[in-house]
Amino acid sequence: MSSLEIEALSIDLSMVEGMGHIKKHEKKLIKSWAKLKSGAEAFTDWVDLPLHYDKEEIRKIKQTAQHIHKQCNAFVVIGIGGSYLGARAAIEMLHSESESKNVPKVYFAGNNLSGTYHCELLEALEDKEVCICVISKSGTTTETSVAFALLKEFLIKKYGKKGCRERIYAVTDQKRGILRCEVEEEGYQSFAVPQDIGGRYSVLSAVGLLPIAVAGIDIREMLDGAADMATVLAKSETAGEAGKLAAARNELYQNGKVIEIFECYEPKLYFFTEWLKQLFGESEGKEGKGIFPSALQFSTELHSMGQFLQQGNQIFFETILSLQNPKKDLKVPKSAGEFLAGRSINEINNAAMAGVIKAHQKEGISMIKVDIPFLNAYHFGQMVYFFETTCALSGYLLGINPFDQPGVDSYKLEMRKALTK
Ligand code: PA5
Repeated sequence: MSSLEIEALSIDLSMVEGMGHIKKHEKKLIKSWAKLKSGAEAFTDWVDLPLHYDKEEIRKIKQTAQHIHKQCNAFVVIGIGGSYLGARAAIEMLHSESESKNVPKVYFAGNNLSGTYHCELLEALEDKEVCICVISKSGTTTETSVAFALLKEFLIKKYGKKGCRERIYAVTDQKRGILRCEVEEEGYQSFAVPQDIGGRYSVLSAVGLLPIAVAGIDIREMLDGAADMATVLAKSETAGEAGKLAAARNELYQNGKVIEIFECYEPKLYFFTEWLKQLFGESEGKEGKGIFPSALQFSTELHSMGQFLQQGNQIFFETILSLQNPKKDLKVPKSAGEFLAGRSINEINNAAMAGVIKAHQKEGISMIKVDIPFLNAYHFGQMVYFFETTCALSGYLLGINPFDQPGVDSYKLEMRKALTK
């Protein structure tokens, strides 16, 4: 993004096969971007959200977070899928930014149905001051309902009914659903899931922002990053780098590359790649179409999956999330031997990436590189908006609706039926 005035993430498509052909997607891209920005399509309120967010709601979220800081030292976020992954991605990436502040440790529940996980969580909470935040648009998701009931019972035992009520926070539909009814009956403090934003596009609403603020991360910076990215992309009739990336992905798909592997060399990005998997998987996987999103952590998984990438069935392309300025570093001691002694660990990590890229280029593997300047709240906001836009445009280029999830709805229904038998 050389023409940008902001320090933005940028993409490098020079290692992608057939990029000479992406121009052919231009007309469709222009139409798709106009459609996305028109405000006329269902579930596209996220497009304008960072530019026109409700300042009063953000003030209220920050105030609530400060109150929670005083109430507890353990904060449990209960939710799954779009009501979980965005907040977790931000918190796992950025929680060290808040190390010096007096914030509670954030725990997660309701993102699996493991009895062991939830038993151990309750044990870990036993001697802590606890608040919980239940997040569910529908209010009926099984995993969330199970964990909410468990944690509520735990709070009642610990603090009594009144104390429990004061320690429950909810983010759910503004009007509908059993969780909203309970919020009204019990008087829990609550926020609304925006009507016209789907779960996987909701991290910059109260769904993500409340837990992120409780973790001590600057949510205004985050929204600023997203707003800057929105402004930059809006200036281009083809959505700038997001449009280019969408076109490149589509071209690769047409050339038989049906798997995208998100790769990172920084463990703090792990949950961001989990969020990307949901974003792209749930948006594109429809009508027998779509690129299957997967993720690998390097250098860890070079020692398990590296062989397949190098010489296996080449039905994939790679999207490398490359961090330009890691926050911390260490020098390797002399005892590590000739090649390593005195080098910094980040330098060795960069050499690993350069080596992998070279080796994969030799095999003709297509690689997209996304350069991320820093891991901070501002750039998290940029990354979220950039990939949401790329994903929505990719969906339009593919000819599917990137904002529904009939498959998820269908298994949820079958699971409920199985439980009522
Ligand atoms: O993106 C989606 O729609 C899903 O991943 C949902 O967010 C997830 O199933 C949780 O649903 P709910 O927020 O209704 O509990």
